[in-house]
Amino acid sequence: MKQTIERIKKEAINELEIASDVDTLNALSVKYLGRKGIVTQYLRNISELPPERRPEEGKKANQVKKQISQFVNAAKLRLEKDRSEFDDGLDVSLPGRPMIQGSLHPVTQVTWEICDIFAKLGFHIAEGPEVEKDYYNFEALNFPKDHPARDMQDTFFISEDVVLRTHTSPMQIRVMEKTPPPLRIIAPGKVYRCDSDLTHTPMFNQVEGLLVDENTSFGDLKGILTTFVHQMFDDRTSLRFRPSFFPFTEPSAEVDILCLICRGSGCRVCSHTGWLEVLGSGMVHPAVFENVGYDTTRYTGFAFGMGVDRIAMLKYKIDDIRKFFENDVRFLRQF
Ligand code: PHE
Repeated sequence: MKQTIERIKKEAINELEIASDVDTLNALSVKYLGRKGIVTQYLRNISELPPERRPEEGKKANQVKKQISQFVNAAKLRLEKDRSEFDDGLDVSLPGRPMIQGSLHPVTQVTWEICDIFAKLGFHIAEGPEVEKDYYNFEALNFPKDHPARDMQDTFFISEDVVLRTHTSPMQIRVMEKTPPPLRIIAPGKVYRCDSDLTHTPMFNQVEGLLVDENTSFGDLKGILTTFVHQMFDDRTSLRFRPSFFPFTEPSAEVDILCLICRGSGCRVCSHTGWLEVLGSGMVHPAVFENVGYDTTRYTGFAFGMGVDRIAMLKYKIDDIRKFFENDVRFLRQF
């Protein structure tokens, strides 16, 4: 008898251990503990044993009955817990979470658009360092030390000879040092000036342009810039060239476009002048060509530099330049 109840227990546990659902557990519970179950039957048969063995066998059989019952309950709890964990964490019927796709910053988009327009006009793209030598940012561009024109470019100095470039014009020198004429390049990139208010940020973006060839004239400069403005905005946007001064161009001109908001009648955006300043330009100064070893009797050229943030503001009619830097997705999502 002793071996038998032990064997019954062992078989029951084996079967219960591999049961993987509640129905199987219930069926096993009936098989062993039910009214006609194996353990129940065993207990009933104890009465047929000699009286002196009955208490001991009865005790053992009742223990096994209790153990099987406990095992069934524990297994049921475990299965229920597994299922609820599945429900909480892995409900495959829930709709998925969409991947949020970002987009290019409006200033980047406008930079690319400007580059595209000039690429179609035969200009190559050149890029260079934002931490620049005084030589490239000023000296080679015909700004002698202590020249008052340096004052306009509120410069961040890294050391006496190294600055954060205040404009993209140093790229004119870097390209010409390495490339013989003729050439046409544009150079987009970040520039830095120690200036911060409604319309100025200490970091902003420019695109520089440079064309060097034989027989270039101010008329070519006007033609290229007019084509650019008409493609960037529309053909109704007229341009105005105003005499100006840059040490590296002669003659120099600042270019205004007809205000895109009021079309010339005067509004808050154009300070009631009807015009908006978008770029600086001019014919390359011979001193600059001499600094890079170009033959000034044979070659002439023109250069221009525009503020990309400014153009992006006009293109998208944005009234505050700081919006570009606030990183507010509600603003950025509109482009
Ligand atoms: N670099 C000048 C500026 O930042 C703009 C400019 C570029 C003017 C090229 C003339 C020619 O103000």
